[in-house]
Amino acid sequence: MANSADQTPQGLDRILTLELVRVTERAAVAAARLRGRGDEKAADQVAVDAMRKELNRLPISGTVVIGEGERDEAPMLYIGEEVGTRNGPEVDIALDPLEGTTICAKNLPNSLAVVAIAEKGNLLYAPDVYMQKIAVGPGYPRGVVDIDASATENLNALAKAKGVKVNEITACIMDRPRHARLIEEVRATGAAIRLIGDGDVAGVMHTTNPDETGIDIYLGIGGAPEGVLAAAALRCIGGQMQGRLQFNSDDQIARALKMGVTDPNKVYLMEEMAKGDVLFAATGVTDGNMLSGVKFARDYIQTHTIVMRAQSQTVREIKARHQDLSKFS
Ligand code: FBP
Repeated sequence: MANSADQTPQGLDRILTLELVRVTERAAVAAARLRGRGDEKAADQVAVDAMRKELNRLPISGTVVIGEGERDEAPMLYIGEEVGTRNGPEVDIALDPLEGTTICAKNLPNSLAVVAIAEKGNLLYAPDVYMQKIAVGPGYPRGVVDIDASATENLNALAKAKGVKVNEITACIMDRPRHARLIEEVRATGAAIRLIGDGDVAGVMHTTNPDETGIDIYLGIGGAPEGVLAAAALRCIGGQMQGRLQFNSDDQIARALKMGVTDPNKVYLMEEMAKGDVLFAATGVTDGNMLSGVKFARDYIQTHTIVMRAQSQTVREIKARHQDLSKFS
C-alpha cells in the first residue's frame, strides 16, 4: 500500500477517491456520444475503452474482479485483468463502464458509468448469474426488511418504520416476467411500484434518497455483478442490502464454487459483498433521478458524478465542466 500522508491507517489512499471521478467521467462521455443510436454494443465498447484507458493511469495495482466477463468472452476489462500503473496499492475493482446498455441505446433514464474499488479480497467475486436483492436506504433499524420475509411483510415493516401507510411506499422492481408474482403481491398491499426496464444499480441507489427519487425499497432479481456494485454504493451512503445468488444450472453452481462461493444458497449482507474501505463513483450517461446525463455544449462537456468513500461516509457530487475537449476525443 502506498505510503502517502493522506492514507488513513486501515483504509485506501483517499486521493484515489477523486481520481476515480475521471474514470467514470471518461466512460460516461464516450457512451453518451452514442445515446439513442440503438446500438448497445457500440456504446458499451466505447465506454469500456475509455474506462480502461483512465484506469490504467491510476497509481494502483488493480485487479478487475467484477468486469465485462470471463477472459475468453471479453477482450478488455475481463475478470482477472490487471489495471493501473502497478505502482500502488493492491486493490480489487468492480466496474461497469455502461450500466444499462439498452437504456443508453434508447436514451432512457438512469444509465451510468460505475466503478468501485476495495482492498484486495474485499469484494465478492460474484459470478455472472442472477441475484435476488432487497435494499433500503439509511435511517431504518437494522433488519427492518429481510430477504427471507415475504414482500408483504417487508413493505408493512418498512411503512411502519417510516411512519407512513403502506400505500405511501414505492418499490422499485425490474419489469421482467420472472417478477409477475412479486408484482402482484406488492400491488395487493397497496404499495406503488416503479417498474424499470434496466439498470438496477441505479434502482438500488435510488432507495437512499426517497424524497428525491420517490423510491423506498428495491425488490427482485437482477444481475449478481450489479448486486456487488450496488452493495459497494450503499456501503458508502448508508442503507441495508441483502443478496442471494440465483442459479439456473449445475454448471453455473460449479463455476461459482470455482470462483470461491462456498454456499450457493448463502444470503450475503451488504457488508459481505463489499468489505472494509470502499470507494465508489458513478457518472450519469443519460439523465436520471439522482444524476444528470452528460451534456454536450458548444464549448464544453458537462458531467455529473457521485463519488463516495465507505470509511468516511463522505458523499460528494461533482458537476464538472470540461473545456479541454481533446481529452474526450
Ligand atoms: P447491461 O448494462 O449489461 O445491459 O445490464 C443491465 C441490467 O438491467 C442490470 O442493471 C440488471 O442487473 C440486469 O441487466 C438484469 O438482467 P436481465 O436483463 O437479464 O433481466
